[in-house]
Amino acid sequence: MKAKNFSEHALLQTKIAVLRDKKTPSPLFAKTLNEISVILCALIGAEIDTVKTTVITPLMRTGALKQKRPVVFVPILRAGLGMLDGFLSLMPGAAVGHVGVERDHATLKPRFYYYKTPPLKGADVWVLDPMLATGGSLDFALAKLKAHMPHALRAVSVIASPEGIAHVEKEHPDVKLYTAVVDNKLNAKGYIMPGLGDAGDRYFNT
Ligand code: PRP
Ligand code: URA
Repeated sequence: MKAKNFSEHALLQTKIAVLRDKKTPSPLFAKTLNEISVILCALIGAEIDTVKTTVITPLMRTGALKQKRPVVFVPILRAGLGMLDGFLSLMPGAAVGHVGVERDHATLKPRFYYYKTPPLKGADVWVLDPMLATGGSLDFALAKLKAHMPHALRAVSVIASPEGIAHVEKEHPDVKLYTAVVDNKLNAKGYIMPGLGDAGDRYFNT
């Protein structure tokens, strides 16, 4: 499994416990998902490509770094929206696209309903979705995005199943996968165990 996980990150894991708790109300769920997203952005941001530039301080010109390529964040609707503000808070210059995919509850297959992104050619695209379960939704979204020729794709989740990681790594070996934690398995209904339930419902109080 090549996906990078941050299960040793103590602060991150205390916040995931808040998301998991069935008693956590939607406003606290949303706030905590936002905080987790800020931490994930900081961790993944350590890997972005940069180029050398200069900056003039009040005292002198000095060397500095700037992002090499434009970044586009693409939350998968709906639950991915809960990660967007956290990522934008650290990288406010990023553009945002949206992909709408929902799982059919009976078949667990992705059902596509929306696509709108800025031009992706040459951009670094970061796909955001807190839950990677069967991997069907992310697989579908990545295939759509690849058709628009981004420079590279990253996918970021909060809780992933081993099955979902294996699915996406098989179909998209070129995509860098990150997750805050890897859980045990999927249950018969395709929910991540122990997981947190339905992320979209808990975020939007539906
Ligand atoms: C959830 C989640 C992922 C998907 C993961 O969305 O946010 O997009 O399920 O499942 P998969 O890996 O098996 O495809 P859902 O379909 O519940 O839609 P929602 O965000 O609108 O609630
Ligand atoms: N989507 C969710 O929101 N939760 C799961 O456990 C699986 C898919």
